[in-house]
Amino acid sequence: MYKIKKLLNKKNKSKVICLTAYSKNIASILDKYCDLVLVGDSLGSVLYNYKSTKEVTLDMMINHSKSVRLGVKKSLMVVDMPFNTYRNSKEALKNVRLVMKKTKCDAVKLEGGKKIIPIVKNLVKNKVPVMGHLGILPQTAKKFTFKGKKLSERNRILNDAKLLETAGIFSVVLECVESKLAKKISSQLKIPTVGIGSSVNCDGQVLVIDDLIGLSDSKFRFIKKYVNIRQIIDKAVKKFKSEVLKKQFPKLKHSFKN
Ligand code: KIV
Repeated sequence: MYKIKKLLNKKNKSKVICLTAYSKNIASILDKYCDLVLVGDSLGSVLYNYKSTKEVTLDMMINHSKSVRLGVKKSLMVVDMPFNTYRNSKEALKNVRLVMKKTKCDAVKLEGGKKIIPIVKNLVKNKVPVMGHLGILPQTAKKFTFKGKKLSERNRILNDAKLLETAGIFSVVLECVESKLAKKISSQLKIPTVGIGSSVNCDGQVLVIDDLIGLSDSKFRFIKKYVNIRQIIDKAVKKFKSEVLKKQFPKLKHSFKN
């Protein structure tokens, strides 16, 4: 609860820093800089080449989250509930309890607005910290274009955000939400909004770590590649191969001798 209070206190004071992680080693680096580390179901496309996050299972989320838990000490660790694991309140509570018990995560994230309000309310009633997700909803999206073009869509998303806040979520991801709408939502909610492709007008930002470090080859407009880690790994592996072929590695200091 302390970590969630800390996050809520950032509203209108300091930006919320959030990144995804799928395993321990990366998670332990992110933990130094992030307020929130998200085990996103984006791992389906990032790690497994799935066409849609619909294919991600509860077991996959649990296994990756267990690894991430080993690296996250200080940040709030949030786990995405995968598609078809929260179709009604009973199913959601059962699956969320399993995820929380097995992964020791701090909170879960669910995609959707009005339709999931009773589910969110029931989780919150059962003391589960819930993060929302509006805008593009990858688990059910048909088109991956930004949200908020039409007035009716803008009104619906703003209303969903307010309903989710009233239902008790502590924060909400806004994915590819038009800039002015992101501003309106962020100014009307008391909880922090965390944007991805939703402009600087959000209370915080999230990116998929593989995109940020240049390990993936995603080319979405909202991605900024801060380093090209593929090039760095390529160079290192090339050197390793060359040294092994030339018998320059391993040296005596890497070997055991009686
Ligand atoms: O699955 C994910 O990684 C996400 C973020 C992009 C917000 O939901």
